Amino acid sequence: MSKLWEKGQRLDATIERFEVGDDLVFDNELVEPDVYGSLAHAEMLERIGVLAPEELDRLRAGLVEILRLHEAGEFRMTPEDEDVHTKIENYLVARYGDVGKKIHTARSRNDQVLLALRLYTKRRLLELEAALLSCAAALARFAQRHELVPMPGYTHMQRAMLSSAGTWAGAFAEALFDDRLFLRTAYVLNDQSPLGSAASYGVPLPIDRQYVADRLGFAKVQNNVLYAQNSRGKVEAAVIQALAQIMLDLSKLAQDTLLFTTAEYGFFTVSDALVTGSSIMPQKKNLSMMELIRAKASLVLGYQQQVMGVLIGLPSGYNKDYQETKKPFMEAVQTTLDALAVAELTVGSLEPNEDRMLVACTPELFATDRAYELVQRGVPFRDAYRQVGASLQDLPPADPRESLSKRTHLGASGNLGLAALTDAIGAEQERVSGQIEKLNASFRNLFDK
Ligand code: ARG
Repeated sequence: MSKLWEKGQRLDATIERFEVGDDLVFDNELVEPDVYGSLAHAEMLERIGVLAPEELDRLRAGLVEILRLHEAGEFRMTPEDEDVHTKIENYLVARYGDVGKKIHTARSRNDQVLLALRLYTKRRLLELEAALLSCAAALARFAQRHELVPMPGYTHMQRAMLSSAGTWAGAFAEALFDDRLFLRTAYVLNDQSPLGSAASYGVPLPIDRQYVADRLGFAKVQNNVLYAQNSRGKVEAAVIQALAQIMLDLSKLAQDTLLFTTAEYGFFTVSDALVTGSSIMPQKKNLSMMELIRAKASLVLGYQQQVMGVLIGLPSGYNKDYQETKKPFMEAVQTTLDALAVAELTVGSLEPNEDRMLVACTPELFATDRAYELVQRGVPFRDAYRQVGASLQDLPPADPRESLSKRTHLGASGNLGLAALTDAIGAEQERVSGQIEKLNASFRNLFDK
């Protein structure tokens, strides 16, 4: 198939291969969003009189065919197709003739790819939010189930003070719950329709950008045509920033889990279905999925660097450099989605070994508690600190469970607020399901006349 811009010349084969690279693998993710964007664009063209009603019907039928072929795995792109946008237009022209040649009126591949990416990103952000909340819910459940199970708390990797399994897991549940705010911000940035910015400077036709935005369920039109183009990659970078925050939390969870499941700690075990073995050591049970989460967190930071590295210093208007942001962006999204699913699965199978944790709650963990007992009897804190420090070997035995429930201030082991957290997570989960429903409905509506 010829390229949209070819005017008799033939592109050198080495250049063709270089230009496309592995971009088509990622363009495959844009078939569905591009079809939705094209449906809304065609409708708008009909409304402003560029297309006759029957022409719109034909384009609609063609776009639906493309979607069906794609679903059946039969809409395959080759390097000669150049990209998904070209492939779709060429298909429409081949099947429906002249009307296929009209669909590109008032748009450029530059705003077309922007639109497809926005639609792709909307869905992925909601999937990410759902996965994030589901993982946070699993952590909150673990925390509730083992709320007052004593566990040493560490600072500098040394035993520090009495803590609990509930505090440990609740910390991650709250961290992930906060991360949704980054995803939300990215969602708001992404929720703007760029279509109509065309090559970067709009078109000399009275197009109805608001109609397209409404039809596709966008919150607004991204107003300035040049800003719309210049924001390619900016939105992606905002999404990856959110993903990096999530992966930072998951890397800590992974590291803790790896540590606490060693023979040396023995605090937690996970189901045999989740661990891998060694080809040489028959006894090995490796939590290699947690090692991979740890490594993939670094990869996501790298993807962020790649995207921002492409963007920095680019001049205004479309630049082909942008194409190179697609791969790291999509890989970051998929990596984070996978990591969240694996983390949730692991947390769901995590079992605390209460006896081991209790044994590890040695008397010195209560040194600070003891100093505070003296403080309550009127001893100035520094004196109490010194007094206890001078007689560490004489610390009286303490009941860890009782000590835990005595920590009653906000967020402490005896007052973790897990019920409120669980309710808040549940409410957010409902909101996200509602949003996914709404997005799917707005896509389905595009097939109705
Ligand atoms: N594959 C291209 C991209 O991702 C699509 C836009 C092409 N535009 C152009 N002027 N060559 O950016």
